[in-house]
Amino acid sequence: MKIAVLPGDGIGTEIVAEAVKVLNTLDLKFEMETALVGGAAFDAYGHPLPEATLKLAMDSDAVLFGAVGDWKYDKLDRPLRPEQAILGLRKNMGLFANFRPAICYEQLVGASSLKPELISGLDILIIRELTGDIYFGQPRGRRIATDGHFPGAEEAFDTMRYSKPEIERIAHVAFQAARKRKAAGTEGRVTSVDKANVLETFQFWKDVVTEVGKEYPDIALDHMYVDNAAMQLVKEPKRFDVVVTGNMFGDILSDEASMLTGSIGMLPSASLNTKNQGLYEPSHGSAPDIAGKGVANPLATILSAAMMLRFSLNQPEAAQRIEAAVQKVLAQGLRTGDIWSEGTTKVGTAQMGDAVVKALA
Ligand code: IPM
Ligand code: MG
Repeated sequence: MKIAVLPGDGIGTEIVAEAVKVLNTLDLKFEMETALVGGAAFDAYGHPLPEATLKLAMDSDAVLFGAVGDWKYDKLDRPLRPEQAILGLRKNMGLFANFRPAICYEQLVGASSLKPELISGLDILIIRELTGDIYFGQPRGRRIATDGHFPGAEEAFDTMRYSKPEIERIAHVAFQAARKRKAAGTEGRVTSVDKANVLETFQFWKDVVTEVGKEYPDIALDHMYVDNAAMQLVKEPKRFDVVVTGNMFGDILSDEASMLTGSIGMLPSASLNTKNQGLYEPSHGSAPDIAGKGVANPLATILSAAMMLRFSLNQPEAAQRIEAAVQKVLAQGLRTGDIWSEGTTKVGTAQMGDAVVKALA
């Protein structure tokens, strides 16, 4: 089981260290190799995704990723910005299927900005297409130049596109996930989110998803415009089961969904290719404002490591043990600042990791 460990920037290094600590507690043999990515790689090698880092990732069974980005890189040409590292990994590894579960832990019901009854028991899965859409269209604008010379552009644009096979394969992933969840007791529903009322790309999306849906008569399918979906997510989040959508809408809706659960610091994610090779990262970003202070919540990364064990390394029991350990530390009342509330115990990043390690034992 070869794992490429790419901590990245900001709080990335702190939270990944805790996940590695947890993995090393399991009685499993991993081969872990660490490499620089994002702004850290730019600082060291002049590129956010050095050849060696990409090769290490491609040659591994799974990538454990922290986060990339810092405002200090905002002035760089687009291809040199830290964010290009994660986009490059996704594209080169073919990681088209992004799973972003939003689960409300009962102990954290009070940490959400929504009323407890709206989110208690919430368990939804956002499946975001990750290698197409406007993210990988043709960009044009001031920050594309790599020679430091920005042409005095009068306009900028990015093209949005999806091919039929791209939509078909993510639709299959969504229906199959809904089927699996149904077997475990959920409703068995896929909500496909689009903007078919305005965008041709998403009329096409809707048509293709509808076709694929005919192969899954046991799964209910409905369609929702993205603006309405954004509203329904805060109005009645439990109406959703599996949500499938494109890259851009999925980026936005998954951030929204994560806050339903109280903290984005709790949510893991998995990005998979057709070979089940995967990249695992917390749903949140690099949070440069709190980096280096030892206060970031490592649980999303620790839970991402659990997803890695389940999806790419075929170790479902170890995954479950980690998830149970996280539940246990929450039940003990331990909280990092982002999920802290009156009556609970505030701990730092490393203390939280240590508590999970202890709970595992
Ligand atoms: C995410 C992030 C990335 C994205 C950024 C860092 C490129 O926001 O994983 O959701 O937009 O996909
Ligand atoms: Mg995002």
